[in-house]
Amino acid sequence: MDSVTSTAESKKVADAVTRRETISITDNRTGKSYEIPITHGTIRAMDLRQVKVDANDFGLMSYDPAFNNTASCISRVSYIEGDKGILRYRGYPIEELAEKSTYIETAYLLLHGELPTEAQLKDWTYHVTHHTFIHESIKKFLDGFHYDAHPMGMMISTIAALSTFYHDAKEILNPESRQKQTFRLIGKMPTIAAFAYRHTLGMPFVYPDNDLRYPGNFLNMLFRTTEARYRPNPTLERALDVLFILHADHEQNCSANVIRGVGSSHVDPYSATAAAIAALYGPLHGGANEEVVRMLHEIGSVQKVPEFIKRVKAGEVKLMGFGHRIYKNYDPRARIIKRVAYEVFDLMGKNPLLEIALECERIALEDEYFVKRKLYPNVDFYTGLIYQSMGFPMTMFPVLFAIPRTSGWLAQWQEMLLDPEQKIARPRQIYLGYDTRSYVPMEKRS
Ligand code: ACO
Repeated sequence: MDSVTSTAESKKVADAVTRRETISITDNRTGKSYEIPITHGTIRAMDLRQVKVDANDFGLMSYDPAFNNTASCISRVSYIEGDKGILRYRGYPIEELAEKSTYIETAYLLLHGELPTEAQLKDWTYHVTHHTFIHESIKKFLDGFHYDAHPMGMMISTIAALSTFYHDAKEILNPESRQKQTFRLIGKMPTIAAFAYRHTLGMPFVYPDNDLRYPGNFLNMLFRTTEARYRPNPTLERALDVLFILHADHEQNCSANVIRGVGSSHVDPYSATAAAIAALYGPLHGGANEEVVRMLHEIGSVQKVPEFIKRVKAGEVKLMGFGHRIYKNYDPRARIIKRVAYEVFDLMGKNPLLEIALECERIALEDEYFVKRKLYPNVDFYTGLIYQSMGFPMTMFPVLFAIPRTSGWLAQWQEMLLDPEQKIARPRQIYLGYDTRSYVPMEKRS
């Protein structure tokens, strides 16, 4: 399918030239003009290379720090239309999936491109469920972490360490091996996350219960104490399932770009996923949910919100959980999450920080600073409040993001591997450092 895609892309480029869907560039340094094809609203950066001052010139490059205006791949996994607040996985609107699907079904959809039949779903669920156990040695090195180690640090290291257990994972071009590692990664993420959590509490690890569904089993491994059989609360289990669906993929975000970049070296998927978790850990990405709750605690009361917003506008602090590179409208996930929040609060009692969050949102949505910059609540603005009400400590919030994002990461990783246009990711640079100079002996340095 993918080499056909590549041929189809070459044909599109040729057709674009025939139909004059092109852009003409005149190089004022030489007076020469170039006609460059436009496909999918994009020009190919390599087409700029022909723009040269003379035969020895390297050719024109584009400069785009932080990828503000660069498409790094062709993808069919998820689609965002930022101005309209649209998110779809494989064409299905996120609102419909949140209402009708489960995380495990959504993970199948992301990885396979289609919703599963009943038999396919049964088989997929069976395989993921039967890869939830971890090697006993992994427990030993989890035990080696300090009691207050951040669980994201534990996740990064433990997922990377899985590569030392599964040597077959190196066979990344073998579809059966990729499938196996996919079962393992999606199956084991909740187990490792729950074990990391129990380690911080000094509580014994709870083994997976394969009779429970994916989110219910996760709750079991986290919260089971003396009961013989853990029965997850159906409202909390469904809330977690919906949150997992909403977090499953988000096209070329920071961590998706990382798994593609690291995976492009053909390293095994455990090492590549560990790198993606590391990217997600940052406060500007998946770590933002933790930062939102810290911020709301710092604000302290509804009365103090205007003062805090003043500081935001003065550039002293950021309003965490606001703003997005792509969404210039309400993040559709935030809208669904707000509804889930009320369902959880009805059961667990209202989170006292909710009023502060609502006041921040109310002021920000009316204030010119935020309106002008199109800053709206993103996925992380309300998730922290839900997680807190469900009994999770703040340090677990980004972990709750990493678990479901694993399916999206693996879908992006696989798509990158199968794309014949992709190679090892290796950007160019503009070098503005020193020209050559001679080594200065110590006694001559000032
Ligand atoms: N609070 C205050 N001002 C903000 C915020 C914010 N949260 N976000 C952006 N701005 C301002 C910037 O200061 C900038 O203002 P300027 O034009 O006067 O310089 C303008 O809005 C544009 O912001 P950029 O930083 O250029 O936007 P970018 O696309 O690079 O960053 C990001 C997006 C990182 C999400 C940013 O909005 C941010 O830091 N938000 C807070 C952290 C957060 O919530 N992250 C989670 C994102 S969702 C996710 O990853 C799951």
